[in-house]
Amino acid sequence: MFVKVVVQILAALVVAVSASPVLTTSHVVHERRSMPPPKWEKHSRLHPASVFPVRIGLAQQNLHRAEEFLNQVSHPQSANYGKHWSAKQVAEMFTPSAESVFAVKAWLSGSGIDLKRVKISASKAWLEFNATAQEAERLLRTEYHLYNHETGHKHIACEEYSIPSHLTEHIDIITPTVDFDKKIGTPRKLQNDDQLPAPLQHLNKRTLGHAIVGSPEDSSSPKQGAAILNALMTLENCDSMITPACLQALYDAPPGSKAARNNTMGVVEYTPQAFLQKDMDMWFKQFSPNQVGKAPNTNLIDGAIIQTTNQSFTFNGESALDLQYAMGLIYPQQVTLFQVGDIVNGGSFNNFLDAIDGSYCTFEGGDSKDPNIDGQYPDTVPGGFNGPQNCGGFPSTNVVSTSYSFNEADLSAKYEQRQCAEYMKLGLQGVTVLYSSGDFGVAGNSGHCINPVTGAVNNGSTGMFNPSFPGTCPWITSVGATQIVNGSTVRTPEIASQRVIFSGGGFSNVFAMPSYQQSAVKSYFANNKIPYGAERFNNSQTVRGFPDVSANGVNYVVAVNGQFSLAFGTSASCPTFGTLVNMINEERIAANKKPVGFINPTLYANPNVMTDIRFGGNQGCGTAGFNATTGWDPVTGLGTPNYPEMLKLFMSLP
Ligand SMILES: *[C@@H]1O[C@H](CO)[C@@H](O)[C@H](O)[C@H]1NC(C)=O
Ligand SMILES: *[C@@H]1O[C@H](CO)[C@@H](O)[C@H](O)[C@H]1NC(C)=O
Ligand SMILES: *[C@@H]1O[C@H](CO)[C@@H](O)[C@H](O)[C@H]1NC(C)=O
Ligand SMILES: *[C@@H]1O[C@H](CO)[C@@H](O)[C@H](O)[C@H]1NC(C)=O
Ligand SMILES: *[C@@H]1O[C@H](CO)[C@@H](O)[C@H](O)[C@H]1NC(C)=O
Ligand SMILES: *[C@@H]1O[C@H](CO)[C@@H](O)[C@H](O)[C@H]1NC(C)=O
Ligand SMILES: *[C@@H]1O[C@H](CO)[C@@H](O)[C@H](O)[C@H]1NC(C)=O
Repeated sequence: MFVKVVVQILAALVVAVSASPVLTTSHVVHERRSMPPPKWEKHSRLHPASVFPVRIGLAQQNLHRAEEFLNQVSHPQSANYGKHWSAKQVAEMFTPSAESVFAVKAWLSGSGIDLKRVKISASKAWLEFNATAQEAERLLRTEYHLYNHETGHKHIACEEYSIPSHLTEHIDIITPTVDFDKKIGTPRKLQNDDQLPAPLQHLNKRTLGHAIVGSPEDSSSPKQGAAILNALMTLENCDSMITPACLQALYDAPPGSKAARNNTMGVVEYTPQAFLQKDMDMWFKQFSPNQVGKAPNTNLIDGAIIQTTNQSFTFNGESALDLQYAMGLIYPQQVTLFQVGDIVNGGSFNNFLDAIDGSYCTFEGGDSKDPNIDGQYPDTVPGGFNGPQNCGGFPSTNVVSTSYSFNEADLSAKYEQRQCAEYMKLGLQGVTVLYSSGDFGVAGNSGHCINPVTGAVNNGSTGMFNPSFPGTCPWITSVGATQIVNGSTVRTPEIASQRVIFSGGGFSNVFAMPSYQQSAVKSYFANNKIPYGAERFNNSQTVRGFPDVSANGVNYVVAVNGQFSLAFGTSASCPTFGTLVNMINEERIAANKKPVGFINPTLYANPNVMTDIRFGGNQGCGTAGFNATTGWDPVTGLGTPNYPEMLKLFMSLP
C-alpha cells in the first residue's frame, strides 16, 4: 500500500516535472580532470552500446549545520553539552533528503531512464543503474573513453561531465566519471620499490606522493633513536629519556586508577604494523610490572593479523610506542586495539571508520576505490582476506587515537570532506578523535612540499607547505609535538620539538576555519609578522589551522624487538594526550556524566587549562616554518596539557 502511494506520487511528479521548464535548465560542469594521471593513456571512444553501472552519490542533507550541531553537544556554554546523539539520530539528520531522491529520479526518468532500472541503496545515499555509453553520455553531456594503464589494465572515464544546474545541490559525485580509482592489481604490501614489478617501481613514492598507511615506507611512523642499555627511572633524565613517570610529572597527571566498563581507550594500527607481546612484557617489566603478560583487547578488522613474520623497528615501532604508553598510562583501564587491514592489502582510515559505523560502509560512504588509498575487500589477491569488508562490526571507544596521517594533497577534496564529515558524526556521538599532526613541520610526510605550478609533491627543499590529513579536518583534535630542552628537567617549560622531528602544523588548503578557533587564529596573525605569503600557505585567515594541542614527542623509551630504544614523533604525542582525555572520561563517568566527546570548542574557550608553548618552530620546505609563540600557534596549538586544570574544567561541565 505504502509502496503504491509512493510510486503514484513519483509518477505525478515526473509528469509535472517533464512538463515544467526545470528540465531545460542549463547544464553545468560538475567535475573536471585536465589530464589522466601518470601511466594512464586515453585509448578509444567507448562503443555506444557498451553497458556499465552508473552510480549517483546524493548529497547528504544538513551538512552545512555540522558546526552548529557539534557545538550544541560540545561547546562549554551550550545547554546541551554532553547530550550526544544516537547513531540513529545522526543517520536521520544527514541522510539525503527525499527531495534530493525525487529530483534526481525525475531527471533520470525525464531523460529516458526507466525508474524500474534504478536501484536505491538502503541508506538512500546512492542511486545505481546500468546504462549504455550512449545513455550516459547524453545524460551527462560527456564523452566516455577507454583508458589503458601501462600494466594493461583498462578503465572507463571522461574528462568532465555536466548535470542540470538545479541538481548541483542534490548530487555529490557520479561514477564512473573523472576519477581513476581502478584497482591496478598491485598488492599494497609491495611498498619497497625493488619489490614492485618493473613498470610500477616508484609508483607510490613518485606518483602518489605518499606511502600506504602502516607500510614500512609510511613516514608518518615514529623515528628511531639510539638503543639504550639501561632505561633510567629517574626524573632527572627526562631530557634524554622519556618514561611514563616523566610524562606524569610534565602534565601533573596521576597514574590511572579507574576502569569504567566501556571506557577502554581506542588505539588504531594498520597492518603490517604489529605489536610483539615479548616487547610489551619487556617494557611492562621495567615500567609497570602488574601488566606483564597483558595484551590489548584486540579487534581485527578486514582480515587483520598481528603479523610476526617481519620484525624490526619499521614493522613494530609504531605499535610498540602507542600500545606501551597507552596501556601503561591508563592502567587498570585497558586499551582496545583496532588492527586494520589484511597482510596483502592493508587498510586505511575509511576501513576503520566502516568498521565502527555501518552507515559509512563502501556503498554508502566515501571510500576510495583506489587500493593505494583504502583497502579493497574482499581482497582477491592470493593470500588476501576474502571475506566481506567489515561494516559496523565493532563499537567505537570513547577516545580513538591514531598516529598515522596522509598529506592533504595526496587525496581529493571530496574524499577528505566526506571522511571529515564522518569525524563530525563521531563527535556528535561523544567520541574524541585524535590524530598525530605529522613529523615534518610545515612539510608533509617524508618532508615533501608542493610544487606551486604543477601541484605535485617535490623533494621538500622548496615549494608550498604541505599540511597533513586528517590533521586539517576541523572535527578532529590534531596533536603536535614538544620536547624538554636539552639539559633541563620536567619543571622547565617545554619547547616545540626540534630534535629528530618537527611538529606538523600550518593551514588547510581544503577546510574552512571552524568558529571555535577564530579568535585564537586571529590573535596569532595579529601578533606575529609572518614572513611568508600565499606562495607558501593559504594566509587568507579563513582556513583551518592545526594542530590544536601538543604533548611531548621526543626520546620515548620503547621496547622494540627485544631492546629498549628511543622513539620520536607526534606518533608518541597523540596517544599520550589521548590517555589524559581517557582518564578525564573515567572521572566523568564515575560522576554519572557523559564522556567529553569533541574537545576542541572547550579547549579553545579555556586555553588556560593548557601550558602555552612559546619557543621552537616547525621548519620545512626550505623555510624556518612557523614559530611557537604566545597563544595558539600552528606548531604546538594551544600547548600541552595541564591535567588538573583540564580535569577541573571538564568536571565543571554538565
Ligand atoms: C547491472 O548489471 C549487472 C550485470 O548484469 C547486474 O548484476 C546488476 O544487478 C545490474 N545493476 C542494476 C542496478 O540493475
Ligand atoms: C557499551 O557500549 C556499547 C556500544 O556503544 C553499548 O551497546 C553498551 O550498551 C554499553 N554498555 C554499557 C554498560 O554502557
Ligand atoms: C618481510 O618478510 C618476508 C618473509 O620473510 C620477506 O620476504 C620480506 O622481504 C620482508 N619484507 C621486508 C620489507 O623486510
Ligand atoms: C630538490 O629539488 C631542487 C629543485 O628541483 C633541486 O635543486 C635540489 O637539488 C633537490 N635536492 C635534493 C636533495 O635532491
Ligand atoms: C644534548 O645534550 C647532550 C649532553 O649534554 C649532548 O651530547 C647532545 O649533543 C645535546 N643535543 C643537542 C641536540 O643539543
Ligand atoms: C585560501 O582559502 C580561501 C578559503 O577557502 C579560498 O577562497 C582561497 O582561494 C584560498 N587561497 C589560495 C591562494 O588558494
Ligand atoms: C620566527 O621568529 C624569528 C625570530 O624572531 C623571526 O625572524 C621570524 O620571522 C618568525 N617567523 C614566523 C613565521 O613567525
